[in-house]
Amino acid sequence: MTRRSSVLFVCLGNICRSPLAEGIFLSLLQAEGLENRIQVDSAGTGGWHVGEAPDPRSRAVAQQNGIELTSRARQVAPQDFARFQWVIAMDRENRNELGNVQTVQGGPARLHLLLEFHPEAPDVTGASGGVDVPDPYYGGPDGFQTVQRLVQEGCEGLLKAVRAELRS
Ligand code: 4NP
Repeated sequence: MTRRSSVLFVCLGNICRSPLAEGIFLSLLQAEGLENRIQVDSAGTGGWHVGEAPDPRSRAVAQQNGIELTSRARQVAPQDFARFQWVIAMDRENRNELGNVQTVQGGPARLHLLLEFHPEAPDVTGASGGVDVPDPYYGGPDGFQTVQRLVQEGCEGLLKAVRAELRS
């Protein structure tokens, strides 16, 4: 039987970072013919933007890399910890909130920060500290370029881990 996996990317609003991660990860899967074996989705810990398309600034950096973002924002649901094998948070605040939900709700998902999978983790975010993909919402376009690079590199590392688990 062919083994399958699933990955849910989570940020705060589900309009900037996690839709970009979803699109980038899907493009990596498509390049390797894995899109039918590994399901991808994204969600936000907050519900303010539910139903919205990704932020135009995220769509722009994705498009520069040939990726179209087509998701609509949704809020994380407690069942996500049972539906997805990997729940990948963009920053420690999201990760801690998700951890609290999982503690109460249970569910077998592996909860991680995306940049734990970055090849240079934990030094990648330098002086800004920690292993967070910085929230770009209130900043300028440069912030979205940084997010794009970190997410791309993190997703490449994550795919290695997901594939290794599929083989195990
Ligand atoms: P995201 O960015 O968590 O990467 O989608 C944000 C989007 C919206 C808000 C904050 C962050 N907001 O405060 O509405």
